[in-house]
Amino acid sequence: MKIIVHKEILLYFIFWVSVTSFAQNKSDRELILIDKDWRFSLGHLYDTQKDFGHAEGYFSYLAKTGFADGPAAPGFDDRAWRKLDLPHDWAVEQDFSEKASYSHGFKSSGKGFPEKSIGWYRKKIMIPQSDEGKIITLKFDGVFRNSKVFFNGHFLGTEESGYNGFEYDITAYVNYGNENTIVVRADTSMEEGWFYEGAGIYRHVYLQKTNPLHVITNGTYVTSEIQNDTAEVTAEVTIENKGNYKGAIEVIQTIINASGKEVTSTAENRLAPEFYKTANFTSKIKIQSPLLWDLDAPNLYRIITQIKQEGKIVDDYETNFGIRTIKFDPEKGFFLNGKSIKLKGTNNHQDHAGIGTALPDELQYYRIKKLKEMGSNAYRCSHNPPTPELLDACDKLGMLVIDETRLMGINDYHLNDLKRLIERDRNHPSIICWSVGNEEWNIEGGIVGERITNVMQGFSKSIDPTRPVTVGISSGFRSGISSVVEIMGYNYMGNGDIDAHRNDFKDQPGMGTEEGSTFATRGIYFNDDTKHYKSAYDKKPRPTFFSIEEGWKFYASRSYLAGMFIWTGFDYRGEPTPYGWPSVTSYFGMMDVCGFPKDNVFYLKSWWGSTPVLHLMPHWNWSGMEGKEIDVWVHSNCDEVELLLNKKSLGKKKMEQYGHLEWKVNYTPGTLEAIGYKNGKKILTEIQKTTQNPENIKLSIDKENPSNANVLVITVEVTDKKGLHIPTANDEITFAVKGGKILGVGNGDPTSLEKDQFIDDITLVPITNLEEQKLTSAELLQELPTFSESDWTAAFKDRDYKIQAKSYVYRGQFDLKNISKTNMVSFFYKKIGAESVIFVNGNKVVPSAEDSQKYSFTSSILKEGKNTIYIMAKPLQKIKDWDVMNTDPGIIQVITPSEPWKRKLFNGYAQIIIQKDESGSEVVLSATAKGVKAGVLNVNQKKK
Ligand code: GAL
Repeated sequence: MKIIVHKEILLYFIFWVSVTSFAQNKSDRELILIDKDWRFSLGHLYDTQKDFGHAEGYFSYLAKTGFADGPAAPGFDDRAWRKLDLPHDWAVEQDFSEKASYSHGFKSSGKGFPEKSIGWYRKKIMIPQSDEGKIITLKFDGVFRNSKVFFNGHFLGTEESGYNGFEYDITAYVNYGNENTIVVRADTSMEEGWFYEGAGIYRHVYLQKTNPLHVITNGTYVTSEIQNDTAEVTAEVTIENKGNYKGAIEVIQTIINASGKEVTSTAENRLAPEFYKTANFTSKIKIQSPLLWDLDAPNLYRIITQIKQEGKIVDDYETNFGIRTIKFDPEKGFFLNGKSIKLKGTNNHQDHAGIGTALPDELQYYRIKKLKEMGSNAYRCSHNPPTPELLDACDKLGMLVIDETRLMGINDYHLNDLKRLIERDRNHPSIICWSVGNEEWNIEGGIVGERITNVMQGFSKSIDPTRPVTVGISSGFRSGISSVVEIMGYNYMGNGDIDAHRNDFKDQPGMGTEEGSTFATRGIYFNDDTKHYKSAYDKKPRPTFFSIEEGWKFYASRSYLAGMFIWTGFDYRGEPTPYGWPSVTSYFGMMDVCGFPKDNVFYLKSWWGSTPVLHLMPHWNWSGMEGKEIDVWVHSNCDEVELLLNKKSLGKKKMEQYGHLEWKVNYTPGTLEAIGYKNGKKILTEIQKTTQNPENIKLSIDKENPSNANVLVITVEVTDKKGLHIPTANDEITFAVKGGKILGVGNGDPTSLEKDQFIDDITLVPITNLEEQKLTSAELLQELPTFSESDWTAAFKDRDYKIQAKSYVYRGQFDLKNISKTNMVSFFYKKIGAESVIFVNGNKVVPSAEDSQKYSFTSSILKEGKNTIYIMAKPLQKIKDWDVMNTDPGIIQVITPSEPWKRKLFNGYAQIIIQKDESGSEVVLSATAKGVKAGVLNVNQKKK
């Protein structure tokens, strides 16, 4: 029986639902973020010894379950590994190398670096006894790439793509009431994209607990239809039963509005699905006068799906959704809620300055706000499924999205990825279109491309019929993919005749999925090929490409085109076209990798945005160029602009729609001023002043980043004695922070090979050549006698555990390279005896207070090169014959503390990203540089 309840009809029932069902009854569902406290080490691609002996065992984990070996085994000793929190990208931590991948920004990691292409992550978690009976799942939002996951020594599976979310049911393997071990091995020896992709667990990880009867992951699909002033919401839900319950269940769906108020609710009685089966439920719920999701008012609703079994709520699952309509019209372009909207879009990859792909959630909001600030209303996730938090940011801030899968094809690899993408993302109101491919040069113009598109397009529709499908196409317009794709995705006007294609396919809507690919370096106004700098004036980058202005004029003047997506909003690592090494980031961005605007941002803001804009370029610091001609440009949406140099007018010019203004000005230091007029009235002025020498460091929180955020994005600059920003400053700034942790530093210089992160280096040094001698006394010697050299034999060789000596002495060596007083050297001992006494280079060492098996060595007892360790120990006894005894004495860990964090300014700016400590509410950042006064920023607002 299906009950539909409307607020206005049965108020008391709603009250009952809210109080009795989801207020009081906490269901079994818990989603626990487990990003904190992981151990990490690099392994090795093919040398199993350097990969900590992984896959050396007699039985592999594929032969017998629970046989994972090396770090994948639960008992593996990872105490000497680095501690870190997720998200993490080990590629960005590496130095640059000319031998490294061009497309991955020359970071010496991954392809071609076998010792830096495998990353191991380990974590211990307690799972209480009380969880027995629940379904326990490990959920990963994405691991780059080819990850293998192990739990308590059991192999759970492999996820090839670095962009898919995935999960494993671990219920059967859990040690309830005890410690459990999660291990992930990521392999980045292959690339998926031709752009920087990061390395490791760069998205969140969760532990999920549910009742056996539960909504499956991404198990809701919420759509709506609007008629007059009513939205009919269709909520489909997939419920799975991983338990033995048979009988009735009730499925309750409650809609909550943005202010947390219940809007309406339905309940339906059904039979629970059978063991390990799923069942689908569909409810139709009406909302009167819905608040639509729109660009300026991104209203969201939540639907809470509850499963009730024998009077108890056993599961509750929340889905955010928005009510809105979308339409692509072949003649009139795109419509949101019936209103024509030109798509003013950008393409973007995932990485950010200093932190690579491991973006804290707040950075997603920062980046989307920067794009909105530029006037952009659309974002193409090129060329892969994005992090879920990016889509949340787009939903919450009002940004339209093209969501893209990675690879075209019709097999399980391709279609399964596409299915997971759509099922994960289809409730996001921000998504307006699925993209099933990009520039598939081998197939796009021919019949194979046509066939694949037909399958992928139909397949998409079978999962989400509410959104159209596009492909970014760069050749063979009017044939192949472009002849069948639902929304034509033009990649570049120069790649074909867009109007001609449109004339042939009048019923096919279209948009510019990529346009631009212009080159610009922030703060640079003269091309300098020797330094790999491109001037920031908006110019045609290559003969067959167009400037941003040319591009926008083309798209803006054709109503049949839904809009254009610029390549790209932000610079990214990799693809430093038109240069190569030592350029490491792209030049395409409207903003640099930090989000500092290049001048084109103001062109777009003028014509994409809705506020008056006046931007004057270049800066006015041209010492040595006195009397020489400088190109002065103005980006503005004023009707007229007048330019003045040192108060003398250089003339007023009329602004053409979607244009810009230019003057040639002979350089004289002083003040260059632009005055903007609208309807004959002066409305804006903008000044570029010649500055003086740097005096002070200025630190400020970026305005798109609230100071009560957990992650602070801080702009670093230097100013002259009048407080003017110095646009040419390149000072190196050194940082220190209290109350927080620096996550990364950047400056937007495409050729900077400076470090992005300053982290302590950890080197693990094995103990080699382990030998032994039998001792006759059970008493362990506290001083080191002289042993006869001829009595040493290889340790543990042919040991008969039934007849062991009373005690043994073991001797081994470890090699220390470039050792200095600042190194911290510790021995993580693994018991090879019941009791032990340890000597290093003849000195007795004592265990540390926090760990009785850890010995920290003072530098005075260590030497460069070969060091000798003696371990006196009573032997371990076997209890059962088949017991496997430890013969590995452990590992030496050498920590080399990093230098202080620092970064040069690039043309006036650098950026530092800080994560606040959980406990403290105050962050103090200090910055110093040669010849200028130090800067201090005190952020003392309370956390959100
Ligand atoms: C396109 C491609 C993008 C990027 C861009 C650079 O062909 O789709 O991913 O490589 O060129 O111009």
